Amino acid sequence: MTAHETTVGADGYVPTGARSLADLRAAAPGCQGCELHQPASQVVFGRGDPDARVVMVGEQPGDVEDRQGLPFVGPAGRLLRRAVDDAGIPVDQIYLTNAVKHFRFVSRGGRRIHQTPDRVHIVACRPWLVAEFATLRPDVVVVLGATAARALLGPAFRVTRSRGVPLPWPASAERPEEFPVGPAQLVATIHPSAVLRADDQQIAYRGLVTDLGVVRGLLAGRGSPTPAVRR
Ligand code: URA
Ligand code: SF4
Repeated sequence: MTAHETTVGADGYVPTGARSLADLRAAAPGCQGCELHQPASQVVFGRGDPDARVVMVGEQPGDVEDRQGLPFVGPAGRLLRRAVDDAGIPVDQIYLTNAVKHFRFVSRGGRRIHQTPDRVHIVACRPWLVAEFATLRPDVVVVLGATAARALLGPAFRVTRSRGVPLPWPASAERPEEFPVGPAQLVATIHPSAVLRADDQQIAYRGLVTDLGVVRGLLAGRGSPTPAVRR
């Protein structure tokens, strides 16, 4: 880690002792843990049922999300919603969030072009993700693409190699002690934006739905969560 990386971060902005997602969501607009808050319109926090059985982690808000203040409401979000439906996962059982909570972009010819967050942004924003997980009790964590994988599983994890394979959660996390609630399962898959960018969108889409089918199978096989891991 460089000196620069150690000087930034959301740590000082995440309320200590926050007991609910509402507490965290209320504090998130004040975050200046990295430079991304400056050009962005607003912070985009997670959304969904705090008791959701599935937590999906994406990369960062896009242009539409930045304007509306909600995750996954743009083109990638629409595709994800369709894939979730096709896989048979009830959408009300999903909590959606991102590894990085502000939109990173460059302006070109009046348009805002998405830029993949760097490691410094992922590291800076990670305290929000850890704090969200501390209030959630998922049965399945879904990692959407490489940025979410870097945030939760570390730099060595390869989505292309390990997608669609259930892994133990939080045991597979880069730092499992940061995610004390479990046990649950984790499934990594490609990001919905990668489907939109793929040469063959149909094949890429089918792959995403197949991986989400694994999630649906885990939900079905597991039955009701045990009271011990629920609030
Ligand atoms: N892509 C993401 O990863 N997250 C969003 O909220 C929108 C697009
Ligand atoms: Fe804070 Fe994350 Fe936004 Fe950076 S991207 S300012 S760490 S909320």
